[in-house]
Amino acid sequence: MGKLRLGVNIDHVATVRNARGSAYPDPLRAAKLAEEAGADGITAHLREDRRHISDADIDGLMAALSVPLNLEMAATPEMQAIALRHRPHAVCLVPEKREERTTEGGLDVARDETRLADFIAPLREAGCRVSLFIGADPAQVEASARIGAAVVELHTGAYCDFHAEGRLAARDEELERLRDMAALAHSLGLEVHAGHGLTYDTVQPVAAFPEVVELNIGHFLIGEAIFRGLVPAIAEMRRLMDTARG
Ligand code: PXP
Repeated sequence: MGKLRLGVNIDHVATVRNARGSAYPDPLRAAKLAEEAGADGITAHLREDRRHISDADIDGLMAALSVPLNLEMAATPEMQAIALRHRPHAVCLVPEKREERTTEGGLDVARDETRLADFIAPLREAGCRVSLFIGADPAQVEASARIGAAVVELHTGAYCDFHAEGRLAARDEELERLRDMAALAHSLGLEVHAGHGLTYDTVQPVAAFPEVVELNIGHFLIGEAIFRGLVPAIAEMRRLMDTARG
């Protein structure tokens, strides 16, 4: 099995900053520390309401990072224009609802196939690796392959929620679905990533899927950094991922 990449999502450094309208804590400083700690990439979600990451944060990340930036965004004309201006290494399309606290489900690629195919074409031409954030559903995996996405990111939120709620049979069923979808996506030529809600307790079974090459993890790491510091928090995640990989 190849090495598993870790993308560290720094959105919630910006959440803390924005809670007071201050200039700190600085997401860019967090991103540079994450690089030092062994992150293979930085992920940031520029939401339409700018509730955490700002346009200036994206400018700063593009200028200062030495690892690739994975820009998460909704499939809107405004976001497409921003991505085409910056041309980040990767663009991950996510569904966005204003009233949600976090990205609750995956994209409905199967229902929105024609629009999404048109949407991603210029991003692909601009050299961005386009990733689609989807639930563990074969219809979504197959539609993602048909429209020419390079990557699918499998939504691990339900698996992590079941774990946290102690619903272990449901958790294991969802893990099985994720495993099957990783295999299906890989067989269709898609690169497979996973993320959302992963913690030290839930990361290893997903990290052990041979087809998964990248995990994107944020909220838990930023929270854990309060107690052990950002570099040790990331280093421990890295260690768990590497151990699971064997
Ligand atoms: N991957 C995607 C596509 C996401 O939208 C998010 C949350 O922004 C994550 C990964 C990271 O999730 P978490 O912050 O729960 O680790």
